[in-house]
Amino acid sequence: MSNVLTMNQLTNEEIHSILNDAEQYKLGNGWRPSDTVFVSNLFFEPSTRTRFSFEVAEKKLGLQVLNFTAEHSSVQKGETLYDTVKTLESIGANAVVIRHQQDHFFENLIDKVSIPIINAGDGCGHHPTQSLLDLLTIKQEFGHFEGLTVSIHGDIRHSRVARSNAEVLTRLGAKVLFSGPSKWQDSTNTYGEYVDVHTAIQESDVVMLLRIQHERHEEKDQAKDYLYEFGLTKEREKLMKKHAIIMHPAPVNRGVEIDGDLIECERSRIFKQMENGVFARMAVLKRALQQIEQNQEVMKHVIC
Ligand code: CP
Repeated sequence: MSNVLTMNQLTNEEIHSILNDAEQYKLGNGWRPSDTVFVSNLFFEPSTRTRFSFEVAEKKLGLQVLNFTAEHSSVQKGETLYDTVKTLESIGANAVVIRHQQDHFFENLIDKVSIPIINAGDGCGHHPTQSLLDLLTIKQEFGHFEGLTVSIHGDIRHSRVARSNAEVLTRLGAKVLFSGPSKWQDSTNTYGEYVDVHTAIQESDVVMLLRIQHERHEEKDQAKDYLYEFGLTKEREKLMKKHAIIMHPAPVNRGVEIDGDLIECERSRIFKQMENGVFARMAVLKRALQQIEQNQEVMKHVIC
């Protein structure tokens, strides 16, 4: 089954293959299904980028898109995630894309449904398609991962982006640095070394900022002075290496994680990341669906 649930489930070879496919899609090439294929997007948490870039990716591939919103579904009558996915599978969905607030929501689904599951973000857990679009953006910039230094700044503990990226970047040969408030350090994420914000910014080829995940904090924090203590100010941007780039998965809290004037500066790849999201997701959908089409072809020959 071609699920995409976490980055550590994908081999280096599979990751490079997805990135190559994404580059082909960006050039207007690549596989498209020859038959009718339905994909359902289930978003149980708010999303703009992931949701709409999946929908654009699906439409560019010629897929039939079934959009699901929890508030207008039988989830409101108590239906579980498992029963919702089984229902969509029974109706004819060939794959599901799911964002859910529960960490590892997919553990209750794998081996129980026979259609591919694509994780569009699980709680504080993983965000593999964000990670793939981030890798695509870094590859476009530098052509490789080996030897790069990537600093990840901010709310490391609650960030599924930090978890997915730190593991895979280290595996692909990059050095990861973490920086941010000590209360948001993550002892379970052992792929990076914690350093002060100036060291992180000065040593990095990629400065990757994270959104403060207010919705996952028990204590409400106004993030007062965050920009000046931990964020990317205009003064700190001047410390960056000449060729270094700025990334942020977004949405951005302007003037909190980054000075608003830097969001669209020459070094920023924030909107490039969003553009790449469509192509990375097309490649992930290809991986999930091409196998189904091949199985259908085999079945046709068996029946004949
Ligand atoms: N980066 C990201 O996942 O954004 P959305 O929450 O808008 O999908």
